[in-house]
Amino acid sequence: MSTNLLKGKKGIIFGALNDQSIAWFVAEQAYAQGAEIVLTNAPVAMRMGAIQDLSKLCGDAPVIPADATKEEDLQNLFEKAMEHFGGQVDFVLHSIGMSPNVRKGRHYTDVNYQWYQQTLDISATSLHKTLSIAMRLNAISEWGSVVALTYIAAQRIFPDYGDMADAKSLLESITRSFGFHYGVKNKVRINTISQSPTVTTAGSGVKGFDAFIKYAEEMSPLGNAGADACADYCLSLFSDLTRYVTMQNLFHDGGFSNTGVSQSVVERFMREE
Ligand SMILES: NC(=O)c1ccc[n+]([C@@H]2O[C@H](COP(=O)([O-])OP(=O)(O)OC[C@H]3O[C@@H](n4cnc5c(N)ncnc54)[C@H](O)[C@@H]3O)[C@@H](O)[C@H]2O)c1
Repeated sequence: MSTNLLKGKKGIIFGALNDQSIAWFVAEQAYAQGAEIVLTNAPVAMRMGAIQDLSKLCGDAPVIPADATKEEDLQNLFEKAMEHFGGQVDFVLHSIGMSPNVRKGRHYTDVNYQWYQQTLDISATSLHKTLSIAMRLNAISEWGSVVALTYIAAQRIFPDYGDMADAKSLLESITRSFGFHYGVKNKVRINTISQSPTVTTAGSGVKGFDAFIKYAEEMSPLGNAGADACADYCLSLFSDLTRYVTMQNLFHDGGFSNTGVSQSVVERFMREE
């Protein structure tokens, strides 16, 4: 049901690869709530074609390719988006993550350091570049909102998450630091949402993901949060209802992050006694 929560707002959504992507849900729901959007992804991801289907579902939203590690691509993206909107952008979703080490099964203690740099650049520094270019172009409106997606491996060890954990820690640190400076300069707010494990292309690249998702489900009093619920939370942060929330890492995980152990997990071990 639309309540036009984002009526009149304009946003850029990074990272919709296919209809499982968290960004896909955010784009559809933002459009349904009255927002105008521009879609973007890395040129290589465009070749899969699904983003054009999403564009149609979102009122023929323009699709502007940008490799989020390349400053010239990001500059072009913001310039074209502002041209299209006839002014500034009100919200940005950063929904980007990739680790060549995780993908190719390199253990955390034995990473390829070139790939490690790529992991950090794609998954974290890309947020810094996006914000820096947006600030330079004065592309985000006052009280505008930027949300990036993260995972609890930034705070606690999840062995198979590999070097992505380091990237997420950096992403959350950039959110705090840039959130301060952008808040002072233009009242732009920046937050991360720390999402439950979710079945997507990026998620499924992590070893043992299926077992892990079941474990997280049993450990969370409300169960795992799905991509559609994550999109709801993103929308609330893009809206005017959360204007004083900034520089935060916000857990959206059904209570997983504050649970030591659940009854059902204890019972599994009792059966083994
Ligand atoms: N799926 C999960 O379990 C989970 C949990 C917590 C957080 N997250 C985070 O959510 C975000 C979105 O991931 P998802 O699960 O929807 O998977 P996804 O694979 O659908 O999305 C990842 C996106 O990153 C894009 N990308 C990769 N390299 C890029 C580059 N150089 N430039 C621009 N875009 C690039 C991909 O094309 C893809 O669209 C990621 O930051 C991920 O770490 C996912």
